[in-house]
Amino acid sequence: MTSQGSHADWVRVRVAGKVNLALRSGGRGPDGYHQLATVFQAVSIHDEVLVRDAAPGHFPVTVTGEQADLVPTDDTNLAVRAARLLAHEYGDPRRHGAEIVIRKAIPVTGGMAGGSADGAAALLACSYLWDLDVAPEELAALGQRLGADVPFALAGQTALGTGRGDELVPVLSRGSYHWVLAFADFQLSTPAVFRRFDQMYPDRDPAPPPVPQELLEALASSDPVALGRHLVNDLQEPALAMQPSLRRLLAEGMAFGALGAIVSGSGPTCAFLTSSESTAVDLSVHLGGLGLCRAVRRVVGPVAGARLVS
Ligand code: C5P
Repeated sequence: MTSQGSHADWVRVRVAGKVNLALRSGGRGPDGYHQLATVFQAVSIHDEVLVRDAAPGHFPVTVTGEQADLVPTDDTNLAVRAARLLAHEYGDPRRHGAEIVIRKAIPVTGGMAGGSADGAAALLACSYLWDLDVAPEELAALGQRLGADVPFALAGQTALGTGRGDELVPVLSRGSYHWVLAFADFQLSTPAVFRRFDQMYPDRDPAPPPVPQELLEALASSDPVALGRHLVNDLQEPALAMQPSLRRLLAEGMAFGALGAIVSGSGPTCAFLTSSESTAVDLSVHLGGLGLCRAVRRVVGPVAGARLVS
């Protein structure tokens, strides 16, 4: 730590949300988790996490932006948990504290790993704030302890996740993909969707089915038509069973000409793949007019993971 006052300013980190292009799940394991084979893509909707020094052991958090009122500001907040964990493992918990501001744009409990993104951003931001010498793979290992999606929020781009979805290898992805995201005015809890999955498929093998080879080939050859055809999400049927209105939303997108339509992660956000920016504009206007969603937003992917911006 350098002299007093040099850390008075905020450290700011930007972090992207994700969609799962493929999410294959095995049956519930003895630890309560599901083994996954999933392809993540980071997309251009970003939260920001700002941190600055606070009194030792103090981690006050303020949340602004969309759906801010839905984010807990107690010690269950993932950014707070991340900061505490980092201070404990790599810093000096008697010396470190952080004031945290989260600017939300990624939907809350929306299937886009928004909470995990904030945890990832807080790990990175606090490692700068406290001048800690933490290698990227060490941050990822801390991230794993916070939640299955945190390592991907640090890494960004396109990656294959196995284990709980937290053991990552990069996926070769050429080109940029244009998505329309439709945000619901309700939430779906990930554990609840997994429980519904367990009820629907009680005899599921614990090992997940493979990610379609055609999907990986589509990414490698920059083929959005083939990608759209091979999008797959084993949590989609359970999510639709819990919120049937999403089925109509997906069908409307496909009828309008989307190359593919899928529930993102455990939902309820739906992601529609389009062939170009202009078709994405047309589709977003159409979906926005249906009255089936809270908001519609165009994004591109892949984009970078958590990054320092000041
Ligand atoms: O890891 P994270 O806390 O983000 O996961 C939230 C919940 O989602 C877990 O408590 C678990 O119920 C479920 N989950 C799962 N299998 C995974 C990832 C998450 O069952 N691979």
